[in-house]
Amino acid sequence: MLTAAGAMAGPADLFVKTCGQCHVKGGQAPPVNPADKAMSVWEKYFRRGRHPVDLSGKISSDQLQIVVEYLKDHAADSDQPLAAVIPK
Ligand code: HEC
Repeated sequence: MLTAAGAMAGPADLFVKTCGQCHVKGGQAPPVNPADKAMSVWEKYFRRGRHPVDLSGKISSDQLQIVVEYLKDHAADSDQPLAAVIPK
Protein backbone atom coordinates (compact mmCIF):
# COMPACT_ATOMS: atom_id res chain seq x y z
CA MET A 1 0.00 0.00 0.00
CA LEU A 2 2.78 2.37 0.93
CA THR A 3 4.63 1.59 -2.27
CA ALA A 4 1.57 2.07 -4.49
CA ALA A 5 0.69 5.36 -2.82
CA GLY A 6 4.29 6.48 -3.08
CA ALA A 7 4.47 5.64 -6.76
CA MET A 8 1.24 7.48 -7.50
CA ALA A 9 2.09 10.67 -5.68
CA GLY A 10 4.49 12.89 -7.63
CA PRO A 11 8.17 12.42 -6.84
CA ALA A 12 8.27 15.95 -5.41
CA ASP A 13 5.51 15.05 -2.94
CA LEU A 14 7.32 11.88 -2.05
CA PHE A 15 10.54 13.81 -1.46
CA VAL A 16 8.78 16.28 0.84
CA LYS A 17 6.90 13.53 2.71
CA THR A 18 9.89 11.29 3.24
CA CYS A 19 12.99 13.48 3.50
CA GLY A 20 10.96 16.44 4.72
CA GLN A 21 9.83 14.59 7.87
CA CYS A 22 13.20 15.50 9.35
CA HIS A 23 14.69 17.98 6.89
CA VAL A 24 12.50 20.97 7.52
CA LYS A 25 13.00 24.35 9.11
CA GLY A 26 12.77 23.80 12.85
CA GLY A 27 13.00 20.01 12.36
CA GLN A 28 15.69 17.60 13.48
CA ALA A 29 17.82 18.25 10.39
CA PRO A 30 18.29 21.35 8.21
CA PRO A 31 16.25 21.66 4.99
CA VAL A 32 17.70 19.67 2.11
CA ASN A 33 17.07 20.24 -1.60
CA PRO A 34 17.98 18.57 -4.90
CA ALA A 35 20.29 21.46 -5.91
CA ASP A 36 22.37 21.02 -2.74
CA LYS A 37 24.42 18.38 -4.53
CA ALA A 38 25.55 17.34 -8.00
CA MET A 39 23.93 14.41 -9.82
CA SER A 40 26.91 12.13 -9.30
CA VAL A 41 26.85 12.82 -5.55
CA TRP A 42 23.16 11.93 -5.18
CA GLU A 43 23.73 8.85 -7.31
CA LYS A 44 26.16 7.45 -4.74
CA TYR A 45 25.01 9.07 -1.51
CA PHE A 46 22.50 6.51 -0.23
CA ARG A 47 23.96 3.57 -2.16
CA ARG A 48 27.22 4.06 -0.28
CA GLY A 49 25.47 4.55 3.05
CA ARG A 50 26.60 8.16 3.47
CA HIS A 51 23.40 9.31 5.14
CA PRO A 52 24.16 9.76 8.86
CA VAL A 53 20.80 8.34 10.01
CA ASP A 54 19.45 4.86 9.17
CA LEU A 55 16.40 5.35 6.96
CA SER A 56 15.32 1.72 6.72
CA GLY A 57 11.86 1.42 8.25
CA LYS A 58 11.15 5.06 7.38
CA ILE A 59 11.56 4.96 3.61
CA SER A 60 11.20 1.82 1.50
CA SER A 61 13.90 1.07 -1.03
CA ASP A 62 11.34 1.62 -3.83
CA GLN A 63 10.53 5.05 -2.48
CA LEU A 64 14.19 5.89 -2.00
CA GLN A 65 14.87 4.97 -5.60
CA ILE A 66 12.13 7.34 -6.83
CA VAL A 67 13.43 10.11 -4.58
CA VAL A 68 17.02 9.63 -5.76
CA GLU A 69 15.88 9.87 -9.42
CA TYR A 70 14.06 13.10 -8.53
CA LEU A 71 17.12 14.49 -6.71
CA LYS A 72 19.30 13.73 -9.74
CA ASP A 73 16.77 15.27 -12.17
CA HIS A 74 16.96 18.53 -10.21
CA ALA A 75 20.53 18.43 -8.91
CA ALA A 76 22.89 21.42 -9.00
CA ASP A 77 24.30 20.43 -12.40
CA SER A 78 20.97 19.32 -13.91
CA ASP A 79 18.95 21.28 -16.49
CA GLN A 80 16.37 22.18 -13.86
CA PRO A 81 18.05 22.66 -10.49
CA LEU A 82 15.63 23.06 -7.57
CA ALA A 83 16.95 24.77 -4.46
CA ALA A 84 13.82 25.55 -2.47
CA VAL A 85 11.37 22.64 -2.63
CA ILE A 86 11.75 22.50 1.14
CA PRO A 87 11.95 26.16 2.20
CA LYS A 88 15.16 27.17 3.98
C1 HEC B 1 14.63 10.30 10.31
C2 HEC B 1 15.02 11.66 9.94
C3 HEC B 1 15.64 11.86 8.56
C4 HEC B 1 15.09 11.51 7.34
C5 HEC B 1 13.76 10.83 7.05
C6 HEC B 1 16.06 11.95 6.34
N1 HEC B 1 17.14 12.53 6.93
FE1 HEC B 1 18.76 13.31 6.01
N2 HEC B 1 19.63 13.69 7.79
C7 HEC B 1 19.02 13.53 9.03
C8 HEC B 1 19.93 13.99 10.07
C9 HEC B 1 19.63 13.99 11.58
C10 HEC B 1 21.09 14.44 9.41
C11 HEC B 1 22.32 15.08 10.04
C12 HEC B 1 22.07 16.58 10.09
C13 HEC B 1 23.26 17.36 10.58
O1 HEC B 1 24.40 16.93 10.37
O2 HEC B 1 23.02 18.42 11.14
C14 HEC B 1 20.86 14.24 7.99
C15 HEC B 1 21.78 14.58 7.00
C16 HEC B 1 21.52 14.56 5.65
C17 HEC B 1 22.41 15.05 4.64
C18 HEC B 1 23.78 15.62 4.90
C19 HEC B 1 23.68 17.11 5.00
C20 HEC B 1 24.67 17.76 4.08
O3 HEC B 1 24.66 19.00 4.03
O4 HEC B 1 25.47 17.09 3.41
C21 HEC B 1 21.78 14.91 3.43
C22 HEC B 1 22.31 15.30 2.07
C23 HEC B 1 20.50 14.32 3.70
N3 HEC B 1 20.37 14.11 5.05
C24 HEC B 1 19.56 14.02 2.72
C25 HEC B 1 18.36 13.35 2.98
C26 HEC B 1 17.43 12.95 1.95
C27 HEC B 1 17.59 13.22 0.47
C28 HEC B 1 16.42 12.29 2.57
C29 HEC B 1 15.22 11.60 1.95
C30 HEC B 1 15.54 10.46 1.10
C31 HEC B 1 16.71 12.32 4.00
N4 HEC B 1 17.90 12.97 4.21
C32 HEC B 1 15.87 11.79 4.98
C33 HEC B 1 17.78 13.01 9.25
C34 HEC B 1 16.92 12.50 8.29
